[in-house]
Amino acid sequence: MTVQESPASAFDRATMQRCLELARTAIGRTAPNPLVGSVIVNQGNVIGEGFHPQAGEPHAEVFALRQAGDRARGATLYVNLEPCSHTGRTPPCAEAIIQAGLARVVVGMVDPNPLVAGQGIARLRQAGIEVHVGIEATDCQTLNEAFIHRMQHHQPFGIFKYAMTLDGKIAASTGHSHWITSPTARQKVHQLRASCDAVIVGGNTVRQDNPHLTTHDQAGSNPLRVVMSRSLDLPTDANLWHTAVAPTIVLTESGANSEVKAALLKQAVEVIELPDLTPQSVMAQLYDRGCLSVLWECGGTLAATAMQQACIHKVWAFIAPKIIGGSGGFTPVGDMGLSQMTEALPITRLNIQSIGPDFLLEGYLPVENPVINDPIP
Ligand SMILES: NC(=O)c1ccc[n+]([C@@H]2O[C@H](COP(=O)([O-])OP(=O)(O)OC[C@H]3O[C@@H](n4cnc5c(N)ncnc54)[C@H](OP(=O)(O)O)[C@@H]3O)[C@@H](O)[C@H]2O)c1
Ligand SMILES: [Zn+2]
Repeated sequence: MTVQESPASAFDRATMQRCLELARTAIGRTAPNPLVGSVIVNQGNVIGEGFHPQAGEPHAEVFALRQAGDRARGATLYVNLEPCSHTGRTPPCAEAIIQAGLARVVVGMVDPNPLVAGQGIARLRQAGIEVHVGIEATDCQTLNEAFIHRMQHHQPFGIFKYAMTLDGKIAASTGHSHWITSPTARQKVHQLRASCDAVIVGGNTVRQDNPHLTTHDQAGSNPLRVVMSRSLDLPTDANLWHTAVAPTIVLTESGANSEVKAALLKQAVEVIELPDLTPQSVMAQLYDRGCLSVLWECGGTLAATAMQQACIHKVWAFIAPKIIGGSGGFTPVGDMGLSQMTEALPITRLNIQSIGPDFLLEGYLPVENPVINDPIP
């Protein structure tokens, strides 16, 4: 296969897709850094590939350049995110690309990080390198939507996941909820969890469901497990306290149940007392810990508050073809104080897929300041 010289050729697009595939290898492991993959092509031959494995490790371009060695001279480098121009934990990739003598660079999207934001591209062009930007841009932005959100809003990207019956119930009127969806859908949840950095539930879900909130050894790492409990009225023996499996933090308010606190600390559960325990204060904590994406797996009470406080940006709704009935309050989202249907929050960019007998509906909630990322021409 030979490289076509026209910008955004089918070859360019296919190679950018390969960058995205490489980037995905590290899903759930790079926070607070983005998912990045890079490919170097010389005369139609792939001579180097790499991805960013985790924060503190070299960037994707460095791995690709190492593999390509001297053959990188005059070649084309593909990368789904603009090469960095600043010295962070590692030296700038734009300089490494210039040093290696690349002739052309194809970039998926501009880096939303204000420390880069077009400067990496400018530096490459300044050095006489031909740079194309915006190839497969939509896919590139979707892959790093959590990173973009974090950069633009100084908050992690919040995803609300729930499973409900066709009549909109997340539990029977007794609170029983094992299981709404099929094993196939639950396996999908484990995979989705692996792509998130933290997963949040409220105290009631711990008391009622005793969840594990792990990936159950699906490909990928376990997210940080987070419990929000004002009362700290929690069982001292729960699956979430098995911290050898995955870390758990309990966020509570000052002066909460000291006996339970001591029992949790003994099991290596981190307990943090916040002056005001709210979804927003929890998201701020998780931002400070470097989380990109946070999965809300809570019940309706907490979900309503999280939605009201703009801590949820995307929804993963699993819908099971069964009806349980009941007039209880076990619905995905509790009272948000909205009284007119015209006030309902619109869900946009919908995607629906069938998973075994169930359906997964994915969509986005409105964000106050929408993500705008115009590629540099
Ligand atoms: N099907 C599903 O997808 C799914 C998912 C999750 C849960 N569920 C079901 O939902 C039910 C529990 O619903 P829930 O809404 O009570 O769930 P929850 O997720 O436990 O949330 C409520 C709890 O969050 C804690 N909390 C801390 N700060 C809060 C704040 N600022 N605002 C609101 N809550 C705060 C409180 O815990 P403390 O009382 O400890 O202070 C409160 O009781 C269970 O029956 C469970 O089976 C279903
Ligand atoms: Zn870099």
